Amino acid sequence: MFKNNILKVIVSFAIVIVAVMSCKEESKKLYVGTNAEFEPFEYRESGNIVGFDIELVGEIAKLINVEIEIEDMAFDGLLPALQTKKIDLIIAGMTATEERKKNVNFSESYYKSQQAIVVNNDENGINAFDNLVGKDVGVVLGYTGDLIVSEISNVRVQRYNATSEAIMGLKAKKVQAVVLDYEPAKNYSAQNPELKLIETDSESEEYAIAIRKEDTQLLDDINKALATLKENGTYDALLNKYFK
Ligand code: ARG
Repeated sequence: MFKNNILKVIVSFAIVIVAVMSCKEESKKLYVGTNAEFEPFEYRESGNIVGFDIELVGEIAKLINVEIEIEDMAFDGLLPALQTKKIDLIIAGMTATEERKKNVNFSESYYKSQQAIVVNNDENGINAFDNLVGKDVGVVLGYTGDLIVSEISNVRVQRYNATSEAIMGLKAKKVQAVVLDYEPAKNYSAQNPELKLIETDSESEEYAIAIRKEDTQLLDDINKALATLKENGTYDALLNKYFK
């Protein structure tokens, strides 16, 4: 009888321990890919990766009860990293294009943007996309700006690996213009007094979070979290903080 009770106690303990251990495994971690030179969406501030996207994904993670770790990499490497499971989602001011939708799923859109042109202050001949014909134009490899400029005939496209490199090429007058998403373009021209921003009437683009096609539950969770953040004022507070 006594022995039996001890056995019961041991078995119950074992069950509790196994339960606790498996719980721990369930509070899982998601790896979030980004490319942190796209202010105000993601950028580095004294070494830390900060920005609208980073805070937004942090709030989503809280709501769906997961831990996240941010992985900073070249923009061009983000989709391959998602496909090969090095990361679990992408938040990088990434436009939900039809082409990308063939390979990944996108959440509901969380921001609407469009392309802009950055030129040197003394450049007076470029006021619209049409004026890029016959010019050397810098873009960043794999950005939607790259696709758009590559479609204009008679433009010499110079593809840079990073936004900062394209801006450097422009300042050094290796190219006469850089085409980039509006908000980062605005930031780079504000931070470099020798540059100016040209607004365009390019098509609008919707930014969304990219997820692997098979991760339908995660997609659902993210969309629900986004809806909650839009309802409860968190999303608007972030907009006010990062877009003045
Ligand atoms: N919206 C553009 C695209 O999807 C550029 C995004 C660049 N983002 C970044 N974090 N560097 O291609």
